[in-house]
Amino acid sequence: MFLSDTHLPQLLPPSAYTDPTWYITEREHVLTPAWHVVATTSQFPRDGSFITFDFFGCPIILRRHCGEIRGFLNVCAHRLAKLTSQPTGYCSALRCGYHGWEYDEVSGATKKIPDAPSFKPLEKGMLGLTSVRVETCGGLVFATLSEDAPSVGKSLLECGIDVARTMSPAGFLGMREICFPVNWKVAIENTLESYHVGEVHPKTFKTAPAEEQCSHQLFPAISIFCGPGDTVPWIQRLERVLLSGAAIPQTGGYRHVHLYPTCTIAETDTFTIILSFLPESANRTRLFMTWFASQRAGASAVWNGLIRNWGRVQSGFWLTVVNEDLSMLPTVQQGLASSSHPGTGLISRREERITHFQQWILDRIQTDTTATQPATMLVTHSSPSAVSPMENVLT
Ligand code: FES
Ligand SMILES: [Fe+2]
Repeated sequence: MFLSDTHLPQLLPPSAYTDPTWYITEREHVLTPAWHVVATTSQFPRDGSFITFDFFGCPIILRRHCGEIRGFLNVCAHRLAKLTSQPTGYCSALRCGYHGWEYDEVSGATKKIPDAPSFKPLEKGMLGLTSVRVETCGGLVFATLSEDAPSVGKSLLECGIDVARTMSPAGFLGMREICFPVNWKVAIENTLESYHVGEVHPKTFKTAPAEEQCSHQLFPAISIFCGPGDTVPWIQRLERVLLSGAAIPQTGGYRHVHLYPTCTIAETDTFTIILSFLPESANRTRLFMTWFASQRAGASAVWNGLIRNWGRVQSGFWLTVVNEDLSMLPTVQQGLASSSHPGTGLISRREERITHFQQWILDRIQTDTTATQPATMLVTHSSPSAVSPMENVLT
């Protein structure tokens, strides 16, 4: 059942999806304080493996050292060059390619400075790379530019994600990156409702589950949808055999978790797909997508292997679903960008997770910017609905 008794207001104005000024405010108050999925452990096969990428305007390098993935701003302390421009690779030392400064792999402090006497009285270790916080959860790598964001592993635990089962490195099946010309919230909001299923997924999901089969849970920075898993009898039978072989409980359910702001996790008993919508600008998003088969550490290699094989079969279905959504999203962006429509839109009860997410964004922006932002940035809730947007939900 849904939580709200009535439809809900669209809280964000169209400009929230198109305006570069809004995006800059959002980047500061919504995005950089949060954790984001940025990589998988499979991208770091050995010590010295690294990746680089742009993270909300900051160049970042992640590199494996002694089995752990460490993050730094990819900016040298000497003359601020990027240490490397390669997107991925291996390096035996954390070394800048311009003048050869070398840095400690754990702390980022300077370790070796060629012709060091010419920098007198600078001493070894006095300058260094800026560390970036990284947390590894199963096969996923999260990063944040915040110094005080609480542990993301704790958040996963709180929303009932069994990391060992759903995103074990042993269950890793694949990853893909796609850039598309759409605001990141358009893409996220698409994942938060099943209302579009009949129109956008007529051949894959076919129809949205009935309200009685659905439940929504709303928490301060998380929302969860629970519904039925695959209802095809032979698939249910197959999964029963596989799961009991690996001693993994069968629930028969489907859960979609949104870890605010950019991470969504869709899981069934045997398969998990994680979508990380990383904004690059007001109207451009990089989707980092990765998927896993369920595994149990104590189960036999045979049963874990069979579940991985079943996961590979399911991958094609889920990638088709994602493609169906992605092909629709630019039309939403184009409509939002047109200035001709007088309305702001409306949110159905089935879409109520969207209003909760929008309220969360507004809370971040308004709390942090009331004193500094122009009035046009602030949105008042003069919606047609008399119902307070979240008055009947958990917060
Ligand atoms: S800029 Fe990196 S060593 Fe000079
Ligand atoms: Fe969809």
